[in-house]
Amino acid sequence: MPQQKKKPNGVTAAPLANWMLETNEVTRLFLAANQIPDLINIAGGLPDPSTFLDKEISEISARMIRKHPKQTMGYGPIEGLPALRDCIAKRYSKGSLQLTSENVLITTSGMQGLDLIGKVLLDPGDLIAGQFPTYLGALDAWRPRQPRYRNMDVHGADFDAVTEMQGAKFAYTVPNFSNPTGQLVKVSRRKELANGTLKTGTWLLEDDPYNTLNYDSPLPPSVIEILAEKLPEETYSGTCLYLGTVSKQLAPGLRLGWVIASKEMIRSLTLAKQGSDMCTSGITQLITLEALKSGLIEKLQPQVVDLYRRRRDVLCASMKEYLSDWFDWKTPEGGMFVWAKARDKRLDTDRLLMFAMEEKVCISPSSVFDAQGEHRSAIRLNFTLNCEDKLIQAIRRLARATKRLVDEG
Ligand SMILES: Cc1ncc(COP(=O)(O)O)c(C=O)c1O
Repeated sequence: MPQQKKKPNGVTAAPLANWMLETNEVTRLFLAANQIPDLINIAGGLPDPSTFLDKEISEISARMIRKHPKQTMGYGPIEGLPALRDCIAKRYSKGSLQLTSENVLITTSGMQGLDLIGKVLLDPGDLIAGQFPTYLGALDAWRPRQPRYRNMDVHGADFDAVTEMQGAKFAYTVPNFSNPTGQLVKVSRRKELANGTLKTGTWLLEDDPYNTLNYDSPLPPSVIEILAEKLPEETYSGTCLYLGTVSKQLAPGLRLGWVIASKEMIRSLTLAKQGSDMCTSGITQLITLEALKSGLIEKLQPQVVDLYRRRRDVLCASMKEYLSDWFDWKTPEGGMFVWAKARDKRLDTDRLLMFAMEEKVCISPSSVFDAQGEHRSAIRLNFTLNCEDKLIQAIRRLARATKRLVDEG
């Protein structure tokens, strides 16, 4: 990345901020992959557009604009429309976790939640305890603060949350079918995380976009629910922040998410949002409210789960046939991804991406899910976007690319 640019008149433009030097070139390469004809993209975390309920959403949208022209077309409250905040508070209130609308901030996507939390909590160089490999978007959101990272091994045999969270500004976890590994955090580890935030006072971010993409068995309780059981106050006031989004439940184009946290934290995040986008679009808030109230999300979920479960099974069967000489993986119980680790740690998956692109298949190499970009012996494969035939073709192409890389040595 060039640090200084010449303007046409020969004057040198102001240099970019330092953090811009740390962006990942590989990310840009695979994000541009959709423009290449005949390429099969199993790199991204994209839903199948056939699940978007376009008819229902356009009907709701037209009805909402007619009925609520000011709310849909005007500026709204920074925190979000009261009716939507209230609906989300009620939806998540369960057992000891009791919420009011003051515990909810509506955000312009889950990504904005991550960005605002970074703005509110991070000073330059602060330490984050992360579950690595981790979500690339979170690394991107926090990069301007140039944080340091420490691995928090929630799946490890000796996981001790108090030790691992101590001294960090916050800890970050995706307990349900994490991106990129698709792994589920066990109940005992969720309890440990709740205990860690309670004992250390370190903020804990529970990022949960994939909870509706659950293919095999019921989900364990969320960390925020477990934490709430240990708190004396009637209304939630704990140090766990929970992030939700409609991106994987309804449509990512709505760019609609929410943060659930203590009232004080919601007030701080609101201040940060004021300097970010002032408010989330009214039309997408009302579409989401209507989709939640009318049960549209629940109606859609079984079809999506069936479709994606079949695709997961086809992808894994095809991997078994073509890739098992070089990779090991576990079939994920939910989410959108299979995480495959190279048996030979010398197999460089950044290089594999180059070969794969020549064979017209795009994959995500592990380096992009690592804060230092050093982990280079695994790949993330998406099974939700493409139909079954394409998934099989993609794996055949990837096998050809892997063989070429291995043969070349
Ligand atoms: C772990 C995780 N968190 C947050 C998000 C953000 O989703 P969105 O910004 O579309 O709401 C994603 C999207 O892929 C994700 O994988």
